[in-house]
Amino acid sequence: MIKVIETIDVMRAYIKEARFAGKKIGLVPTMGALHEGHLTLMREAKAVCDVVVASIFVNPTQFGPNEDFAAYPRKFENDCRLAQGVGVDAIFHPQPSEMYPPGYSTYVNVSGITDKLCGQSRPGHFQGVATVVTKLFNIVQPDTAFFGQKDAQQCLVIQRMTADLNMDIQIVMVPTVRDANGLALSSRNAYLSPEEIQAALVLAQSMRLADHAVKAGERNIAAIRDMVRNKIQSEPKAEIDYVEIYQYPDLQATDVLANKALLALAVRFGKTRLIDNIILSV
Ligand code: PAF
Repeated sequence: MIKVIETIDVMRAYIKEARFAGKKIGLVPTMGALHEGHLTLMREAKAVCDVVVASIFVNPTQFGPNEDFAAYPRKFENDCRLAQGVGVDAIFHPQPSEMYPPGYSTYVNVSGITDKLCGQSRPGHFQGVATVVTKLFNIVQPDTAFFGQKDAQQCLVIQRMTADLNMDIQIVMVPTVRDANGLALSSRNAYLSPEEIQAALVLAQSMRLADHAVKAGERNIAAIRDMVRNKIQSEPKAEIDYVEIYQYPDLQATDVLANKALLALAVRFGKTRLIDNIILSV
């Protein structure tokens, strides 16, 4: 039976015992509303770690004042069942007051790579992510932590943070899981109407165009970006937040594709903002 742990003290005691027994610990941080993307991270963790902890915590500090914190899907019972099905050993499910008690005043800021893409569209978002992930790392003390490529900038921020702060934790980025039509799985897909789901397929289609163009020899970043923008704008329900291409993994601006680049998109369909990305490589 999967163990559900709600307090930091009990989580620490559980981890202490596992460490004492020489177990390798894997952490899959999530905000719940689990889908196949999360389950893939958990399976990956189970394959290389002895004890897998998944955290389910809708982290208030990474949502802006006008974002969907209150509406974010919460499906705890179902999440426990799904996590158990893929062999997760324990779920860490704290209340916000356990993570941010009265008087809480400490935040983690990663500069540079957070000033663009989602960092620009969602001010404060990555401070909230870096803070909660640091806290989860300190509480669970994993050897390895697993994150999805759909949030590629988030993975890079966490990799930067662990390197800069000498956290002895291996960060694994697991490829994005897509449905049969190419739509990246996301808990926020639950907000989409059937028409919006259909419209959102333009994201994968536009990235495929870019990938084909690069494979055919295109190296001009502006030309690739325009191609993707034009494709997305051909869908009347799509409203672009950003379409950008940066060198990967340092996220520096570049005019010419050399080696690897991150093509990253944020696009609204109705009230729902979706992100997606692919790594272009020559
Ligand atoms: O990717 C997410 O679900 C969240 O940003 C994370 C990493 C669990 C931090 O709250």
